[in-house]
Amino acid sequence: MPAQTSEVVIIGAGLIGLATAWRLAADGIQVTVCDPTPGTQTSSVAAGMLAPVTEVEYGEDELLALNLASVAAWPTFAEELEALTGLPAGLNRTGTLSVAYDVDDAAAIHRLADYQRRLGLEVEELSGREARKREPLLAAGVSAGVWVPGDHSVNNRETVAALLEAVELVGVSLVRQRVTRVLTAGTAAVGVELEDGSTISSSQIVAATGPWSAKLEGIPQELRPPVRPIKGEILRLRVPEAYRPALQHTVRATARGFAVYLVPRPGGELVVGATTSELGYDTRVLAGGVFSLLRDARMVLPITDELELVECVAGLRPATPDNAPILGPSGLDGLMWATGHYRNGVLLTPITAQVIADTIRSGLPDLAKPFLASRFSSGPSHLADRSEGPGE
Ligand code: GLY
Repeated sequence: MPAQTSEVVIIGAGLIGLATAWRLAADGIQVTVCDPTPGTQTSSVAAGMLAPVTEVEYGEDELLALNLASVAAWPTFAEELEALTGLPAGLNRTGTLSVAYDVDDAAAIHRLADYQRRLGLEVEELSGREARKREPLLAAGVSAGVWVPGDHSVNNRETVAALLEAVELVGVSLVRQRVTRVLTAGTAAVGVELEDGSTISSSQIVAATGPWSAKLEGIPQELRPPVRPIKGEILRLRVPEAYRPALQHTVRATARGFAVYLVPRPGGELVVGATTSELGYDTRVLAGGVFSLLRDARMVLPITDELELVECVAGLRPATPDNAPILGPSGLDGLMWATGHYRNGVLLTPITAQVIADTIRSGLPDLAKPFLASRFSSGPSHLADRSEGPGE
């Protein structure tokens, strides 16, 4: 079998790998993407929330800056993708309504709103009545709300489909095989080996390997990234015509201390997510996961009972110790990480593609410097050494 070569090889055809491939190939770079099942894993399971504000965690200021840069990049990313492919990129600019069920839940969302405001984020606190004015089908028991105009969503399955078309149009070679290992020579990555035993030589390899990043063979143990899978179960419901639109905005609820989100799609789909559990690579949907999502969803949106349950699925979030992604050089010459996006993979797709393409073209941009893999290997991370939140 003749050895193949490619200027850039990207391992993984999720949203991150596909978007990076598109950006590089559009600049005339020869790109090969390897994945046995492009676009079918976490990228298609996710709910597609673009939620830098409502998912902000106390003390994650550098991640917030990256998330905000990426949410700002999404409209142009979507326009360019649609202009190239003629397909919908899936962006729904609806804003997000956070709601609380009981008084403790209300205290929690108000405390978070106070923190969000101190970070300079746009939030507006609402009474339960005001929240129901924005979303009339919310339960009468909803006690408070916070309106977040800048958090949106995308139909990530549409984004995946558009990116698959885009990479084909710009001449990316998509190899539907698993990479069995990265090939090295001394301290450099020089190619990849595929499951059929063939190899592709390359001096630029991007591992967009999500939750499987730490299992990538061929990389010295000490350079493997601390990425672990965190399972999320998620439901897709169908809203009957008579109730549409059941919701006009993404609704994120805190209901008796439990968090649930409901993401409406044009066309009547309602995505309800997501559980969070550390069970390794287990993607079975458990009855308890489905139960808890429906229990919490119907507490804030009683017509949940009337909706058709179309799909129950589980995916794996690629989590890191500080919840932030791992971008750029790996410590092995010629190998770069674009992984560890945890809860923010869909959100961070445009900025990650830009960062990796910029790094290959002209060097690591400043924006990406806090997210190097080396932060986990050279003593305590500076991200761990972060300012205190409001006493959470
Ligand atoms: N960003 C939503 C989730 O991780 O469930």
